Amino acid sequence: MLKIGIIGATGYTGLELLRLLQRHPAAEIAWLTSENSAGQRFGAAFAVPPPIGEHTLVKLADADLAAADVVFCCLPHAASQAPVAAARAAGARVIDLSADYRLHDPAVYEAWYNHPHEQTALLAEAVYGLPELYRPEIARAALVANPGCYPTSVILGLAPLARCGWLAGTIIADSKSGVSGAGRTPTLKTHFVEASENFSPYNIGRVHRHLVEMEQELRLAEGAAQNGWQLIFSPHLLPVNRGILSTIYVNLPAGVTEAQVREQYADAYRAEPFVNLLPAGQVATLAHTVHTNYIAIALTFVPNTQTLIVTASIDNLVKGASGQAIQNLNIMHGLDERMGLL
Ligand SMILES: NC(=O)c1ccc[n+]([C@@H]2O[C@H](COP(=O)([O-])OP(=O)(O)OC[C@H]3O[C@@H](n4cnc5c(N)ncnc54)[C@H](OP(=O)(O)O)[C@@H]3O)[C@@H](O)[C@H]2O)c1
Repeated sequence: MLKIGIIGATGYTGLELLRLLQRHPAAEIAWLTSENSAGQRFGAAFAVPPPIGEHTLVKLADADLAAADVVFCCLPHAASQAPVAAARAAGARVIDLSADYRLHDPAVYEAWYNHPHEQTALLAEAVYGLPELYRPEIARAALVANPGCYPTSVILGLAPLARCGWLAGTIIADSKSGVSGAGRTPTLKTHFVEASENFSPYNIGRVHRHLVEMEQELRLAEGAAQNGWQLIFSPHLLPVNRGILSTIYVNLPAGVTEAQVREQYADAYRAEPFVNLLPAGQVATLAHTVHTNYIAIALTFVPNTQTLIVTASIDNLVKGASGQAIQNLNIMHGLDERMGLL
């Protein structure tokens, strides 16, 4: 049995991890941390029944880090850097759900997150935890940087094009997320009266932090070709609890045909256990993926143009966070990748 520690268990990703781990046959909980609810049962933080609700929360300083084989870190960015390093120093393999170990260049991290990277040696060993792109590297990794939710939908939505050098010009990713994507701490934007019956764009253009993560990974997938494309990323707050739908507009290079593109996506994702490539004529919707670890991807070609519209949907808390983290756990330990996720 793998002994699991969760740092920051009282957030939405922590709750989702616990729900998934509860039905995972090869994992058991060693400890759960919370700074604000230490000493309380997990059931006091969330209205969940036993056995999840029975675990007593401890402060990170009181957690027996060495008692965990694997530590999931579910803290906000910047707050994750030091706890991840402490868990690694204690010998655990770590899956970090924050953005702290996703960007390979510490200067880029500092520029986008307004915080210096203080663990650059660890950053250099971190593997970006997108199984469809990095399965062999994840299997060997001691530290996995679990991808962001929006980036999971956009990177997997575009990776087959990037690998062929078919990204060109301006690519527009128009994305919508349910409110749980913003975490459990309430803000004015996520206040029920502001979010309900409303639909708001935010950080649109080239200013949202997930943009740089998407571009990093798509340029790596592109390899040496490096066409001069750029991404416009427009996130929206959708008044539902969970789910992300990205609608991505790409102008394919002249001569690239619908048949060629469909073949590339089919080849890329045929063997992927959690990619549901929808048949021609369908579009991805939240209903395809909410409460599952799947990404649904559909391709729509606008007749008599080179315009491709990719629709990609995920559950932000499952394939966009905790489900993908379990998928990585399974890969890291040579388990069936689907364990606990179906
Ligand atoms: N929500 C999503 O859909 C999603 C998707 C992908 C990735 N992520 C990333 O996953 C991480 C966790 O997200 P979440 O939605 O679970 O967040 P959340 O609901 O806001 O929960 C945050 C957790 O971190 C703890 N915490 C907050 N500030 C802290 C600090 N300064 N030091 C120590 N502990 C602190 C809280 O514990 P206390 O009990 O002590 O308050 C809580 O357990 C974030 O980095 C987020 O960006 C989230």
